[in-house]
Formats: sequence, structure tokens, C-alpha cells
Amino acid sequence: MAFTIKVNGNTHSVDVDGDTPLLWVLRDVLGMTGTKFGCGMALCGACTVHIDGVATRSCITSGESIDKSQITTIEAIGATAAGAKIQKAWLDREVVQCGYCQSGQIMSASALLAGNLHPTDPEIDDAMSGNICRCGTYVRIREAIKQAAKSMAQGD
Ligand code: FES
Ligand code: FES
Repeated sequence: MAFTIKVNGNTHSVDVDGDTPLLWVLRDVLGMTGTKFGCGMALCGACTVHIDGVATRSCITSGESIDKSQITTIEAIGATAAGAKIQKAWLDREVVQCGYCQSGQIMSASALLAGNLHPTDPEIDDAMSGNICRCGTYVRIREAIKQAAKSMAQGD
């Protein structure tokens, strides 16, 4: 079936089965491969995107269910205030190891920061608990989120 979706400010017409996961619409139809496939069952967070600002697992979200919602992916998160701070902090803290999980980590962290400039450790843990990192970068992720939050709060 044909439908339109809005991704990173652009409207795209796609023609796929309605139940095709958004992850595959992004990667295979639109060629946006920054969003990663990990488990396909909402267990790892590698496929996280924002739908109207909410961190969402694209592997279990059907393309046709998006309707008029705005999708933001890792390719454009740096254009948002929170996303830019998160990406800078990720670089400053050298968070990334193999990198595979990091698109999803950054998307979840950006969603957290966009709604909470002073996240506590439990709030960080709660927001990031669905994002698995086999390289164990969790300590650096938490440090980077705190750095980004401090920078946002100070208006740097
Ligand atoms: S690929 Fe979607 S949560 Fe793992
Ligand atoms: S950096 Fe390797 S899985 Fe997270």
C-alpha cells in the first residue's frame, strides 16, 4: 500500500505492505541506515527513533501507523538543541566503542534531555534502560548525559 511519512522534516511517499516495520522503511526504502537493527523485538533499543519527540522502537512500529506524526532519526538529531548537546558530549566523553548501539543510545538520551534538563541518576537509568550496549559503555553514557544536561541548563 502507498502512504506518506514525514522523516526529518521531509515528506516521503512509500509503497510497502502496511505492516512493514518503520525500521525497514527507513533503511531499505529511504536508504537511511543510521537506525540499526538489533533484535527486532523491542529488546535492545538499537532501532530507536523519535516519533513526535518520543523515543520509539522502530522495529515494532508499523510504517502505516505513523500517520501524520513527525519522525526524527539519528541523521537529523544533531539539528535539535538536545541532540546537538548529546552528540557533543558523546564526542567529548569518547562514549563510543564498536558503535553499533549508539544511534539508539543517542536517540533515547536526546529524548530524555529534551524533556528534562536536570535528570537524576534514576531518571537516566529509567530512560536508558531499554538500550543495550554489548561493549558496556554505560558509565560513559551516563557521564555524557550529565555533561549535556549541564550544558543545556547553563545555556552554553
Ligand atoms: S531492533 Fe528494535 S529494539 Fe532491538
Ligand atoms: S558501543 Fe558496541 S554495542 Fe554499544
